[in-house]
Amino acid sequence: MKDIIETLRAGNGRTFINLSAGNPVILPEVEQLWRDCTAELLASNDYGEVVCRYGSSQGYEPFIEAVLGDFNQRYGLSLTERNILITPGSQALYFYAANAFGGYAAGGELKEIILPLSPDYTGYGGVSLFPEALRAYKPTIDLGDQPHSFKYRPDFSQLEINDNTGFVLFSRPCNPTGNVLTDDEVHRIADLAAPHNVPVFVDSAYAPPYPALNFTEMTPVFRPNMLHCLSLSKAGLPGERIGVALGDEAIIQVLQSFQTNLCIHSSRYGQAIAARAIASGALAQIAETVIRPHYRHKFQVLEENLEQFMPKQAPWYLHRGEGAIFAWLWFDQLPVTDWELYQQLKQYGVIAVPGSPFFPGLKEDWEHKHQCIRISLTATDEEVATGVRHLATVIETLYKQSPMPPTPMAVSH
Ligand SMILES: Cc1ncc(COP(=O)(O)O)c(C=O)c1O
Repeated sequence: MKDIIETLRAGNGRTFINLSAGNPVILPEVEQLWRDCTAELLASNDYGEVVCRYGSSQGYEPFIEAVLGDFNQRYGLSLTERNILITPGSQALYFYAANAFGGYAAGGELKEIILPLSPDYTGYGGVSLFPEALRAYKPTIDLGDQPHSFKYRPDFSQLEINDNTGFVLFSRPCNPTGNVLTDDEVHRIADLAAPHNVPVFVDSAYAPPYPALNFTEMTPVFRPNMLHCLSLSKAGLPGERIGVALGDEAIIQVLQSFQTNLCIHSSRYGQAIAARAIASGALAQIAETVIRPHYRHKFQVLEENLEQFMPKQAPWYLHRGEGAIFAWLWFDQLPVTDWELYQQLKQYGVIAVPGSPFFPGLKEDWEHKHQCIRISLTATDEEVATGVRHLATVIETLYKQSPMPPTPMAVSH
């Protein structure tokens, strides 16, 4: 990431096609929604109450009310104010959890943070004060029946959750791969955790109802011992830092105490405008009619360009695009590392993210880790097309220089 930032900043007279951005695109309709909500807040009597006073460490009451009302009505739940905590961004939530439930317990034993399906969000890599607490599990690879397409699945023959597990964490939809664990897979993970009273955190930064960046059907899962963790960042408010934990009361209590000690409460301005957008139904609607179609279209553009320009005989695979704002490419038996591939793409003015940082907590060496890149769905259609043409040139040259593998190597692991 440091190299990407420095490269883009230095530029040296070059313009780069940036296929690495983690920031969401500023969509005009979404920006307008936040402008309108801000204008409403400024004109209302609530303004002073929102910005000139401390509030409850749990969160701003009208925002809490709006989220609870929406989730209860939408999913037939009966969540109360005991089942919710507002945090300054969802990243903070994982930091609280990592250091409340993971790391060294009072008796000296290490409570592990289990990532059941690697690769996953690189931001989990730094959440614990004790990095050795993180343990990720290699997935199985499902090649399906489409050429050049694949999907990761949790490897339940390996996954272990026991009394030494502090908590379980995964993103759904997943950054970086766009994978969406099926409802059944989520329940299987929760079933493994339940007998040990282990909390399961579902990072829903891309999930419905907002930002609704799922391109496949999925239902948020609510069970005891489970937290549904949302973020308003990809719904257009990354600068306002709003995360929401919803679910098991006992887990919420622990996290809320952590937050009170750390920062008292999260900022109230963003919560106040979001309360309006959620209560009116405008946010959920814009997520479905503007945000989701934008990124789904972008994935289709990428897919079409890959099919058109990538060498047919090379063993490249695009992860199934089930959600989020990224695409994930795997090059089986890549003759160079992901880092070298990144450097070569840079020579063509294209920046993509090397895949290896997305395997936090994976203790074993796995060559696959060095065979992937992440592409953001945030560029223009033209940039995507040009970027893919350059990628195709680099990949063709690389595999020509070394013997092409006869058949896909990794069917299961
Ligand atoms: C999967 C995932 N989880 C969490 C976050 C952090 O989001 P927030 O802005 O809510 O802290 C991100 C940010 O990109 C993400 O991709």
